[in-house]
Formats: sequence, structure tokens, C-alpha cells
Amino acid sequence: MPGAIYAEGLVKTFGDVKALDGVDLDVPEGTVLGLLGPNGAGKTTAVRCLTTLLRPDSGKAVVAGVDVLKHPDAVRRRVGLSGQFAAVDEYLTGRENLQMVGRLYQMRAKAAKERAVELLDQFHLTDAADRTAKTYSGGMRRRLDLAAALVVSPPVMFMDEPTTGLDPRNRQQLWGVIKQLVSGGTTLLLTTQYLEEADHLAHDICVVDQGRVIARGTADELKARTGGERVEVVVHEREHMATAAGVLRGFGKGETTVEEHTRKLTVPVTGGAKLLAEVIRELDGRGIEIDDIGLRRPTLDDVFLSLTGHVAEVKEEESDEAADVKGRKAKKESAK
Ligand SMILES: Nc1ncnc2c1ncn2[C@@H]1O[C@H](COP(=O)(O)OP(=O)(O)OP(=O)(O)O)[C@@H](O)[C@H]1O
Ligand SMILES: [Mg+2]
Repeated sequence: MPGAIYAEGLVKTFGDVKALDGVDLDVPEGTVLGLLGPNGAGKTTAVRCLTTLLRPDSGKAVVAGVDVLKHPDAVRRRVGLSGQFAAVDEYLTGRENLQMVGRLYQMRAKAAKERAVELLDQFHLTDAADRTAKTYSGGMRRRLDLAAALVVSPPVMFMDEPTTGLDPRNRQQLWGVIKQLVSGGTTLLLTTQYLEEADHLAHDICVVDQGRVIARGTADELKARTGGERVEVVVHEREHMATAAGVLRGFGKGETTVEEHTRKLTVPVTGGAKLLAEVIRELDGRGIEIDDIGLRRPTLDDVFLSLTGHVAEVKEEESDEAADVKGRKAKKESAK
């Protein structure tokens, strides 16, 4: 049986841009799917197709048990959406915005008022509740928009980059709200560029790039694909980097990555703390001064990089190490 959000072969083209190039999704009821991808990957387009705002060129989508293309109105009644760009009424106050949404969903006036008070409190907007939304900061609008999406709790929710532009405290707080929502049975599709966020919230992750799903699995499964833990060393002297790289290669189970400007070397290993101690002894024995050393699990960043870091474009004759360096460069470019 298909899940609460189901898509098969979704295609959407804008001129010669294939925003979606055959996307399949299946989100079991009561779970969170993290749709992860760089700018322009097709995340918003997927959300818009699934929430009836955009008609795909081809493919099939079923949300909350209803065919999206055949019965868009019925789908709209069953889903909640918080878009990438906050859709609040600038000329209403925060409180009025929330009450209006409640009334649109046929809540009684008193219930809508009470719900607005709860949400204003939950999203730290009580002090600004009676100011018009046009006086709100970007982060406040974002929070008001999210609160509006939560006035009623539909069985299926879509959140397009819900935490972009939120400060760390508000992000943490929203994570809490999302967890609470999902524990109440809501199915959620969330897009994000924050790998940490998908790691934190999503049961399953789909990595999209150029309109295609290029990997899927749990955060742990995706991490396992990039190998086990890594030893990361920052050496004190730049001159020692080559020797240190040689030492790491001796212990490594994969390519050693060298980051010149930070004097950081990374190598995948197996053997845990015991091996770490051996690496330290060996480096010490060779008189290499260390600023920092540690064992770390691969982050989703590593996963993302190894999947989308343009490694696939590297020609046969290039070594994996060159590919890795290239990948890191690409990441830095995109981080600019
Ligand atoms: N209405 C549109 N008209 C033309 N091109 C569009 C339109 N909407 C999206 N695109 C193109 O489709 C591709 C996917 O865009 P989309 O907004 O889905 O990406 P995204 O993954 O949400 O990116 P971001 O992380 O920047 O929000 C991009 O190349 C974009 O330029
Ligand atoms: Mg987007």
C-alpha cells in the first residue's frame, strides 16, 4: 500500500530546464521524509506538484489517499503547507493572521482565538502579536508562516525549508514543534539544505540533484555508504603535512583528504579509539606537532559531497584523491 505521500515518475519542465526528471517518493504514514538537495535541485517544484500548486507534465501522485491530479480540491483539504517564502498578510497583525486561518478552516471564533494565543506563545511571537506583520523581521515572518500552517493539524504536512533564516534558538524550538507534530501521527515532507536538520528530524532522506533522486535511505544508511568513522588531524606546521599524510595513509581504509589552508587531514578508518591512540603515537614518534585530533563519524555533509560533489564528473584517469579535493572545492564554491 502506498504511503501518505506517494509519487511515481514525476516530471516537470520549465522551458528547457527539467526541474523534475522522474521523481519517485513513498512516505509511510506518521513518518518524516527529508528532501535534501542543493539550490535548484527541484525540491520546491516537487512540493508544489504534491500540494496541487503546480501540475506535473507527467507522473502520478497520491497524497493522503487522494489522487493529486484527479482531485486537487480534496487534496488541499487534507494537507498543510508552509512554503519557502512566507505567505502572511502584511497588513494584518500576527494574531489576526492566525485567527483568519482558523476561521478559513471553519473554526469557531473562540477556538480560533485560543489557538492563535497558543501558537503565538509557541513561536515566541506574543510580544509582537498585535503589530502588523509588515513590521516583522524575516525570522518573525517565517515563524508566523509556520504557525499559520499549524493552526489546524492536517494529516499530511509539507514544509519547504522551514528553518531557513531562523536563528539557532528558533531552529531548535521548531525542531521540537515538528517532533511533537509527528508524534501525534502527522506525515511530513520537509525540504532542507541543512544536512544536520535532516539527520535530526527525518526517518528517511531522499537526496535530489538536478530533478532526480540520487540516493535514499536513513541518515545512518547514507553515512554507511561513505564508509565508517574518520580520523581528523590538524597539524601545527604546514611542512609536516606530507609526512602526516603518509602516516594516515598507513592506517587508513580509504583516501586521505588534505586541506592545505586549514592544515587538516582526514582519513576513513576502522578500529576506533584504539587506532586513534596508535595514530597519535606514530605522529608523535615522528615529531609532528598536532593542534587537534579526533575520531568522527561521517556527517551527512560527507555523504552529500560524495554524492553530489561532482565526483561523478571526474574523468577515469584522475585519482579518487583529486576527486575528493575537487568535491571540496565545489562545496566551498557553493557555500559562497
Ligand atoms: N516557475 C518557474 N519557471 C522557470 N523555471 C523554474 C520555475 N520554477 C523552478 N524553476 C527551475 O527549476 C529548477 C528547480 O527549481 P526549484 O525551485 O524546485 O529548486 P529548489 O530545489 O527548491 O532550490 P532552492 O534550494 O534554491 O529553493 C531550477 O532550475 C529553477 O530555476
Ligand atoms: Mg526551493
